[in-house]
Amino acid sequence: MNKFHCKFIVFALAIASISAQSKDKEKEEYECPTNVGNGNFADPVTCRRFYQCVDGYPYLNRCPSGLYFDDIQKFCTFKDEARCGPIPITASPVTEAPIDNAQRCDPAECELPYCFCSKDGANIPKDLSAEEIPQMILLTFDGAVNHNNYDHYMKVLGGKYSNPNGCPIKGTFFISHEYSNYLQIQNLSFTGNEIAVETISSQQGLQDKGYEEWVGEMIGMREILRHFANVSNSEINGMRAPFLKPGRNTQYKVIEDFGFIYDSSIVVPPNKIPSWPYTLDYKIPHECKSGTCPTKTFPGVWEVPMNSHFVESYEGGICPYLDQCVLHNHDPDEVLEWLQEDFSRYYEQNKAPYMMAFHTNWFQIKELEQGLHKFISWATSLPDVWFVTTTQALQWITDPKRNKELTTFDAWDCRKQSSQTQRPCYIGNKCALAYKSGNITDTRYMETCRDCPNKFPWLGDSEGTGIPGRDNYIYQSKDTSPTEDSESEKRK
Ligand SMILES: *[C@@H]1O[C@H](CO)[C@@H](O)[C@H](O)[C@H]1NC(C)=O
Ligand SMILES: *[C@@H]1O[C@H](CO)[C@@H](O)[C@H](O)[C@H]1NC(C)=O
Ligand SMILES: *[C@@H]1O[C@H](CO)[C@@H](O)[C@H](O)[C@H]1NC(C)=O
Repeated sequence: MNKFHCKFIVFALAIASISAQSKDKEKEEYECPTNVGNGNFADPVTCRRFYQCVDGYPYLNRCPSGLYFDDIQKFCTFKDEARCGPIPITASPVTEAPIDNAQRCDPAECELPYCFCSKDGANIPKDLSAEEIPQMILLTFDGAVNHNNYDHYMKVLGGKYSNPNGCPIKGTFFISHEYSNYLQIQNLSFTGNEIAVETISSQQGLQDKGYEEWVGEMIGMREILRHFANVSNSEINGMRAPFLKPGRNTQYKVIEDFGFIYDSSIVVPPNKIPSWPYTLDYKIPHECKSGTCPTKTFPGVWEVPMNSHFVESYEGGICPYLDQCVLHNHDPDEVLEWLQEDFSRYYEQNKAPYMMAFHTNWFQIKELEQGLHKFISWATSLPDVWFVTTTQALQWITDPKRNKELTTFDAWDCRKQSSQTQRPCYIGNKCALAYKSGNITDTRYMETCRDCPNKFPWLGDSEGTGIPGRDNYIYQSKDTSPTEDSESEKRK
């Protein structure tokens, strides 16, 4: 608390000196945008700073040295990747007719394993008590996997930390295509981590696009992973919308039609009691800040929502991705304490799964990375804490087990599970591939155990054949088509 105020004074002094220099130009009194809630917003004056709005009050923050604020992704990143703001906030139009809307949860009609809901999303499955169930932690990593982050991820997931059953802790990767290294992704899958999809192009505004675009992005990404990282379709169960803008009913129709099991893009506002995952048989049990959540029912489709992270003082702000909270001014012990306080809201109440969602930039800042390692060391010392993949969490939720039954729970036992992904090659092919964006032809490097394709794989051409629009994805429901044979589902 004191430290925070101290820092705030430092910031205030920094503002004072800057505004003294440009006094005439702007008598800056930043006002938080109304109606869009809490979050980070670009400083109109410079891309090196941003405002964190908490309940309408702006706190000025600086990006760590060398980084710039990206007003789309809402965090500080490398200069050539940062889209400087302010970028106008467009309110999401309401496109769905009010007919056909999902009803409020009816617990009498909704039964596991196919359906799960509760009035405010806070109930524990099967009404078990918090004392008798495990606290699950879901580490999720978004975006490309490559040499900038792979070693950092391996430090967490490479076997240093174990669950109570002795198996190494695992995480879930929501992969986007550009700059990804498919040899590294293959190894993540081979070693028991979960691979899920984000999109091929990370395009903005996807939430307003149609079914074909969602299929092209999501199913195309799944195909790229199958082809270049040997991850079979049956192991890819989840998706996350870019920028956490779900695609209204359209995206969930794709989930249904193409045999995905869950989405994890919906943000839960900062609640006293965190939400458990739920199925979309009923209305979403919380407010939808993005404005683009589904409104119809999608029976049996799971939402693994992103509860907002925050501490009681709101120091650091409120964020779905941990790297969007402002903790980079802290030292590793303060990062640890912040995470512990945030975590205790789950651990000491309903033990909803604690999702720790990261972009790669968390791992570029030493204090944050060290703080995370301290947190994991601490959490893995607790007898009832398990770091599991998102699919493993859903396996527990659909068939809940008490703590004493967990050492024999096969879904969490690495000795009983084996990845269908082959062990990756020792040395991959490093492919330099032509990539056209607008008029400019650029080169993209892609590493894979497969032969190099002709072109950089892209929308409509997931195998990089060089024939645009070659792909034609056919519905594939998981229950009806258990075969691994990929070619049958794609033809031309
Ligand atoms: C794959 O992961 C294992 C264990 O985490 C590691 O020993 C091995 O070097 C990795 N292989 C590659 C190609 O990265
Ligand atoms: C993975 O590689 C193995 C061995 O090359 C192959 O038999 C299998 O079909 C591949 N799986 C996928 C999903 O590509
Ligand atoms: C593409 O080329 C056309 C004509 O040469 C030019 O007018 C246009 O500005 C270029 N667009 C981009 C994005 O470079």
